[in-house]
Amino acid sequence: MTKIKVQDKWNRPLQDLRISVIDRCNFRCIYCMPKEIFGKDYAFLPKDQLLSFDEIESLVKVFAELGVNKIRLTGGEPLLRRNLADLIKRINQIDGINDVALTTNGVLLVRQAQQLKDAGLDRINVSLDALDDTVFKAINDSGVSSSAVIKGIDAAEEAGLTVKINMVVEKGVNDNHVLEMASYFKKRGITLRFIEFMDVGTSNGWDFSKVVTKKQLFEQLTTKFELEPVDAAYFGEVAKRYRYKGTNTEIGFITSVSESFCSSCTRARLAADGKFYTCLFASAGFDLRKLVRDGKNHEQLSEEVQTIWGNRADRYSDERTEETVKNRKKIEMSYIGG
Ligand code: GTP
Ligand code: 5AD
Ligand code: SF4
Ligand code: SF4
Repeated sequence: MTKIKVQDKWNRPLQDLRISVIDRCNFRCIYCMPKEIFGKDYAFLPKDQLLSFDEIESLVKVFAELGVNKIRLTGGEPLLRRNLADLIKRINQIDGINDVALTTNGVLLVRQAQQLKDAGLDRINVSLDALDDTVFKAINDSGVSSSAVIKGIDAAEEAGLTVKINMVVEKGVNDNHVLEMASYFKKRGITLRFIEFMDVGTSNGWDFSKVVTKKQLFEQLTTKFELEPVDAAYFGEVAKRYRYKGTNTEIGFITSVSESFCSSCTRARLAADGKFYTCLFASAGFDLRKLVRDGKNHEQLSEEVQTIWGNRADRYSDERTEETVKNRKKIEMSYIGG
């Protein structure tokens, strides 16, 4: 395959594609799908509006030709999408794709980890915001205990998947549980990443005072652990990485609020309904599903994506202010998949 090079307005290449395969979730995390909004009456996407596996495959071929080598499947909760392993198998066979990863809340891994690995999944990031059950249940608001997620993590490791853990830290909610989480995952030799609570969407009641910054987390962690920096593995790596001194175990920080990383952002996002977004905080997407269903061919789809990426000037986290937080229309995290 001859690759076509595309760059946006700030010379950022297109390298990663994050695909949401479903907008539903079996959790109702307070910072993502609060029950007041995502309750029983919430209209999730009907099945015929989701991209089919054939449609996703055609689009991934377009993106791969334009420089994407890394695919991350997200949700909602991606393991709720039926036959996900089949999609992974197909994506894995596409020329140019050399990294297929998944972000999940972990509870369905016990049943699915082995088949995901067999389908060619390389890596998995599991969200877990506390080990303490009272705190974790208050966050997921679905009565799920942390041991259910831990069992999922165990199953993923047994299946041979590389696992990392994501912990979103919110002030007054779980910031007292940072050291406990660090000790536990250090012992297990699993990378834990702390994520600054972000103002994605418009329903999670975000404000600056609820963010625990990397600096504050680092201060807390270094009361107990000695950390040394690890170089980024590639241009545009999201997490800032450290190692516990004297070990190979890493810890990371995702600092979208305190140290934004838009200047090296190479990520595109495809929502479950086929809308293409060039930023996590975008207000509108481009309807690729319509083009696919209208019968546009590979070249026509490619031209469209090249134009969209070429016009991209997003750098929301660099520009975040009280005003953008309050007044900008933004897509929800559960819909776009983080
Ligand atoms: P790795 O390849 O394993 O490093 O994956 P990742 O960290 O990119 O993916 P993951 O789904 O685990 O995301 C972790 C957190 O980083 C989530 O809260 C994402 O929303 C956030 N994140 C990932 N990419 C971006 C981005 O482009 N912008 C912002 N603001 N946050 C991002
Ligand atoms: N801020 C930061 N991270 C979030 N996630 C979900 N909502 C938010 C938010 N408001 C995380 C999930 C998951 C990843 C895809 O995004 O916990 O680990
Ligand atoms: Fe579901 Fe993840 Fe959102 Fe929690 S953060 S409600 S697990 S999609
Ligand atoms: Fe990329 Fe938008 Fe996140 Fe900045 S805020 S890193 S441009 S997705």
